[in-house]
Amino acid sequence: MTGYLSPVWFHVTDIQVEKGEGCWVYSTDGTKYLDFTSGIAVTSTGHCHPKVVKAIQDQAQQFIHAQVNCYTHNLMQPLADELESITPEGIDTFYYANSGAEATEGAVKLAKQVTKRPNIIVFNGSFHGRTHMAMAMTTSKTGYRSGHAPLPSGVYISPFPSPLGSDQEREESIDACLAQLDYVLNSQTSPAETAAIIIEPEQGEGGYAPAPKRFLEGLVSRCKEHGIMFVADEVQSGFGRTGKFFTVDHYGIKPDILVMAKGIASGFPFSAIGANKSLMDQWPVGSHGGTYGGNPIGCAAALATIEIMKDPSFLENVQQRGEQLRNGLRELAEKYPLIGDVRGYGLMVAAEFLEPGTKKPDAKVCAHVISHCREQSNVLMMNAGTWGNNIRFMPPLVVNEEEISIALNAVSNALAAY
Ligand SMILES: Cc1ncc(COP(=O)(O)O)c(C=O)c1O
Repeated sequence: MTGYLSPVWFHVTDIQVEKGEGCWVYSTDGTKYLDFTSGIAVTSTGHCHPKVVKAIQDQAQQFIHAQVNCYTHNLMQPLADELESITPEGIDTFYYANSGAEATEGAVKLAKQVTKRPNIIVFNGSFHGRTHMAMAMTTSKTGYRSGHAPLPSGVYISPFPSPLGSDQEREESIDACLAQLDYVLNSQTSPAETAAIIIEPEQGEGGYAPAPKRFLEGLVSRCKEHGIMFVADEVQSGFGRTGKFFTVDHYGIKPDILVMAKGIASGFPFSAIGANKSLMDQWPVGSHGGTYGGNPIGCAAALATIEIMKDPSFLENVQQRGEQLRNGLRELAEKYPLIGDVRGYGLMVAAEFLEPGTKKPDAKVCAHVISHCREQSNVLMMNAGTWGNNIRFMPPLVVNEEEISIALNAVSNALAAY
């Protein structure tokens, strides 16, 4: 009898892999690919970093499933200590889960418990996950939502500043978006009914667009004024991806609640919610939980990941390689005006394809570049954005100068062939 795999997964490639090492993956047919997807911004320390592999192997021999309601284990507290040392000031208490969606949902539950309010505000282009509540919070593409209605209520959507245009246009977009948020607070969900404002400090799935500092500050001041929780979803933009541990660190912004996943454990399924103890203490015992959260192998992988990232050369590399990548893409944009914008912090970089001289998305050239890079140069990339017209560059954070050059050459060759 044949078993089948659900067709619901979309596939970027049909490559079957059997081994990963650093920035490279090896397929079962013996081909070697440079992986600029990192399994969607996950394998932060590279595929199978020896320290992470060893931590997982050692822990697997000790205990695989030390269920947190039945007993505790000896890695939960050390991980909380480490997380406290790298997260923004004020975040000192942690809840562990397994995926990004589970953590964003948990953050909403925590915000509701603390504020005793029912509603939340998210932004256009957001991606917070694919479970029902996270889907209701996700607006990057209708494809995630359609066919699944009704979605949970109490989610209000406000515009996100456009990353495109002149400095003046972008400043005007910030003003317009803050005005629109005030309108939402006056017309749809009053502050007294709003538990949280949730934002990705650099949007991921929505198109690798950093939220401007002035916009985030505007959100924080409204949250402070009205006792609304400011939640930073750093599932994709956290854990060194943007050259600091968290994207909010670029701006000195301190969220009330911080959501972490993806890069946290170098690929082992693990996520976490961080908040101040005074907030977490208001989460009634037993009102939230999960069978696998706080898994000891996940904790071991996260501890090893943090140890690797704490070496100052690690984040320095992210910053330097990010600059190399952005500079290289900007040079290409001069030659090929099909690249309409290059943006993003650290190694969370987008090249947005637009019809030259316009803001009209061009998904066709984006798809061509991605498939040309894969087929002709063995470099793996993915798109992002509502229109699918951005390449999101998200290599493992240990990527070196030569590997960035390989990817830039691949993009250059693809554009030359268009
Ligand atoms: C910002 C953000 N939040 C939440 C999620 C959901 O994470 P997961 O796919 O682990 O549920 C993602 C996944 O891409 C994400 O980028």
